[in-house]
Formats: sequence, C-alpha cells, structure tokens
Amino acid sequence: MAIGFKGEIASLKHEMIQMRRDFHRRPEPGFQEVETSRVVGNRLEEYGLEVTRGIAKTGVVGLLRGGSEGKTILIRADMDALTIKEQTGLEFASENEGVMHACGHDGHMTIGLTTARILSQHRDALKGNVKFIFQPAEEGPGGAKPMIEGGVMEDPKVDAAIGLHLWNYLPIGKVAVRSGPVMASMDSMKIKIKGKGGHGAIPHDAVDSIVIGSQVVTALQTIVSREIAPLAPSVVTIGTIKGGYGFNIIADFVEMEGTARALDVDLQKTLPERIERIIKGVTSAMRADYEFAYTFHYPVTINDEAMVGLIEEVSAAVVGQENVMVFERTMGGEDMAFFLREVPGCYFFLGSSNKEKGLDQPHHSPQFSFDEDAMPIGVEIFARAVMKYLESP
Ligand code: NI
Repeated sequence: MAIGFKGEIASLKHEMIQMRRDFHRRPEPGFQEVETSRVVGNRLEEYGLEVTRGIAKTGVVGLLRGGSEGKTILIRADMDALTIKEQTGLEFASENEGVMHACGHDGHMTIGLTTARILSQHRDALKGNVKFIFQPAEEGPGGAKPMIEGGVMEDPKVDAAIGLHLWNYLPIGKVAVRSGPVMASMDSMKIKIKGKGGHGAIPHDAVDSIVIGSQVVTALQTIVSREIAPLAPSVVTIGTIKGGYGFNIIADFVEMEGTARALDVDLQKTLPERIERIIKGVTSAMRADYEFAYTFHYPVTINDEAMVGLIEEVSAAVVGQENVMVFERTMGGEDMAFFLREVPGCYFFLGSSNKEKGLDQPHHSPQFSFDEDAMPIGVEIFARAVMKYLESP
C-alpha cells in the first residue's frame, strides 16, 4: 500500500501552527503540565484514540488500534517547558511569566498529535497499533521512567519506539539519524569537603576546605584526560562550588555539584568509583573528610540498527536522500533513552533552523524558536514509519 500523506498533512498545516502557538503561549514546567496534558488528552479523544491520563502525574497515552492485529509501535513526545524568561518578542510568546517552551517540545506535541490525527483517518489500513506517549519532565527529573513503571509498555505490549527532536543545529529540510549511542548518559553528583575552620592568619590550626576542594576539582579533570581512553567520549564537570564566610576565615567545608556523562553503558557504571576514589585520596592526603552522593539519571540513548534503517528510508522518501545525514553525537542527555532500553527504536533529529527567518537561536536560549515548516515533515516521517513498520513481518 502506498499512502503518501503529503496532501493530507499540508491541509492541516494551518491548524498545526495554531496548535503549536497555543502550546507555546501556555508553557508549564516538568510534572506541572496540567493544562497542557488536558489539551493533549482532549485532542487524542477527539481523534478517536483510547486515552489514559495521569500516568506519572501528568503523562498521557493515546492508543490507536488498527483495523487488524499486528505489532505495536510507540511514538513519544515530551510536554514540559523550561524555567526561562522568554525574550523572543513573538506575538504568541509565553503568557506564563518565567516559563518558556525553549526547547521545541511545543512542536513535538503538535507533531505527535497531528500524526495521531492523520493515522486515525487510516485506522482500517493499520496492521497493528500505535501508542502515542506524551511524557512529562524530559528536562528533568524525567518522566519516561515513571511512565514505564506505570505500565505504558504493556497492554498492548510495545514492540518498537520512535521519537524525534526538532534541532536548530540543522537547517530546515535536513534529518539526522545515527545507529548506536547518540546521546550520553546523564548523572549528577554532590560533594562535600569537610575540613576544620579557623583564623585566616593561623592556617596550621585549621584544615582548609577551600584549598582541598580546589585540588579535588583539579584532580577530577584527570579522569577524562588520563584515565579514560581518548576515543571513549566522557565528561566530568563541576558546576557549582560554595563555601566560606569572609576574607580572613578558613572555611570548615565546601560543597560542590557536578555532572558526569558517557556514551557507553559500561563506562557510565565506572564513573562514580573513579570520582570517589580521587575525592577520597585527595582529602585523606590533606587531613580532610568528605561526603559523596552520585545519582544515575538518564542512561545512554542507543538507537537500534534496523529501526535506524527504517527512519533513514522513510526520511529519504520525505526530504530526499541528500538531506538525510549522520547525526553528530552530543553529550547531552535524553530520557527517551529509557524507552530505547526497553525496546528497539530510533530517536532522530529534525532540522528546524532557518537563518533567513531569524530562527536559528540555540535550544534553551531565551530567544529560541524554530521554523514551523519542520512540523509537517516530522508528521510525514512518523506516519510513513508507522505504516512501514506495521507492514513489516
Ligand atoms: Ni528538548
């Protein structure tokens, strides 16, 4: 069967733009997507899907059952906005002070909902089911994991997963895909260096947590530069350092926070041991004590080769082979990783910047916006990918 979808999608373009701008006006941060998820759920019901609300607080699932039995494919979109004060000057700018859709999740929801609408019109031709997942809190602390724990991979059991991110690092009309690890694991840590306070002029009676903390920060740099192979991408960043009382006082403690990342599952597991060993060595050598807490947040986002092949093929049909490129990997994290750990899938990137329209600001910038012409492209790739996947044996 050859359903092109292009004409149908084009006829919905105006409505897509309205929908995206409505989401953009009313952004809500992670796990507070109350109004957003209500709108999403209502739309899915309107398109005739079976809707489940309130999974992982604000998550919504729409199930589209096809005309005949078959596999189930999951399409994932994220709903949360960021706590950023918007400075785009757009007429549809955020009306929620200090909150902004600065990553494109307003577009992801619109693409997901429009795909649901288009496919619901071809329900009888579907050999299997499509499960549309709208998850909270992608930007942290993460809505994918609690939704999986809430049972979204079951009943009917999900066989594969796809998702996309609008990507302002690529011009409109391009699609970037890659097999294997595409985004890094993302963990956080808290470190406390415990010395002994004293007078700034009498250091030998104190244990200076600032000097020791500084040595710890410097020594931690050797994990990536000296311990881990240069061809195994990894990051150890200390992002905050706090301590001290005054210019003539030796601080009794220093607190730090940081993040550690890797593009390899096994390497990720070794990071806490490496970090703590250095903290322990430096502090004990210098008569201090420490506390260390490491939290695993997002796993490595890993794409399945066959699913990547499917997305490459349908993307080439939509934007032309010459516009499908290999994704340049990033050490950013993504909680799509949790779905891809459960089933084979593909997370890909849809070019959304347009310099001529002034839409080329980076994600998470207060000036961020994207070219809305990317949305119909995303819908067509999703719709074609679903048809092709469900037709495959
Ligand atoms: Ni994002």
